[in-house]
Amino acid sequence: MTLPRSPPMRPSADMTETVLSFHQVTQRYGRLTALDGIDLAIPAGAIYGFLGPNGAGKTTAIRCAMGLLRPQSGRIRIGGHDLARSRRQALASVGAVIETPALFPNLTGRENLDVSRRLLGIAPALIDRALELVDMREAADRRVGQYSLGMKQRMGLARALLAEPKLLILDEPTNGLDPAGIRDMRALIRALPERTGATIFMSSHLLSEIEQLASHVGLLQKGRVLFDGTLEDLSRQQTPRLILTAGPPEQVAPVLHAAGFADPIREGDRFILTDPVAITPERAAALNAALHDAGCQVSELRLERADLETTFMTLTGHGEEAA
Ligand SMILES: Nc1ncnc2c1ncn2[C@@H]1O[C@H](COP(=O)(O)OP(=O)(O)O)[C@@H](O)[C@H]1O
Ligand SMILES: [Mg+2]
Repeated sequence: MTLPRSPPMRPSADMTETVLSFHQVTQRYGRLTALDGIDLAIPAGAIYGFLGPNGAGKTTAIRCAMGLLRPQSGRIRIGGHDLARSRRQALASVGAVIETPALFPNLTGRENLDVSRRLLGIAPALIDRALELVDMREAADRRVGQYSLGMKQRMGLARALLAEPKLLILDEPTNGLDPAGIRDMRALIRALPERTGATIFMSSHLLSEIEQLASHVGLLQKGRVLFDGTLEDLSRQQTPRLILTAGPPEQVAPVLHAAGFADPIREGDRFILTDPVAITPERAAALNAALHDAGCQVSELRLERADLETTFMTLTGHGEEAA
């Protein structure tokens, strides 16, 4: 007799768990609509880069997610809990650093963490774990008043990590740091998901920072989400173009026209060919053959993808809003 087998695990429609989500969240300050019905989904394990120019509404969204602001409409869910209805449970798994962390300057780093630890009612051993995570064990017994800004930021991060949060929220974590401090903080953030299992939701107004750190990106502009997904998906939205150097120009132009490139950008004998429909390697090869048949000299023909910055500029309307 065979024993009934348990049914195989059914994969859910979306295999990844969403740690934090915004559903149509609108936040107004008086007459100003800072968030205009935003939707975001932050999957477990991500470093989610929340990118947007100054004034886009990033801090507002973060304050909403931390329960510091109550949006006029929409829902926020954290770890499966509705923030408005189950505030305590929702926020229990969140650690956050917004702006410069407020620490007691006359206490040591360790003493500062101990104050928080007692408030949280958690084990003393977690202090050393947090110090270790941010590489601050050696400086832990010095007074915070003597710390550099970078050290204060790291101590703020240690405090946010004390209660072993599943979700870590960081608002512009490298703002104000010097280049070395920025580099250290980025390295630290990059290592955190693996070292702690936490999902990271961090804001930045710097595309390069998000490009270097994030697995996912949410693009915010004027309180609206322009993109929410993986960095790879964002790259895929980039339309490729063909760079062609060929001559003589008066011979090349009709071939381009016949090949469907109606409006090439021309710089001397260099042409930049764009076509939102399809620029494929096959089409490039066909063009090359046509140019050759027409007796043109082709010295360069290559397919080029717009970089992330160009995509970003395109999505944000050429960045004219960027501060
Ligand atoms: N407490 C507030 N009262 C009124 N307006 C605010 C307040 N906080 C932010 N704003 C406005 O809301 C918009 C979004 O601000 P913010 O969320 O700080 O953007 P970001 O963090 O992306 O720079 C801005 O126009 C800002 O001036
Ligand atoms: Mg901000």
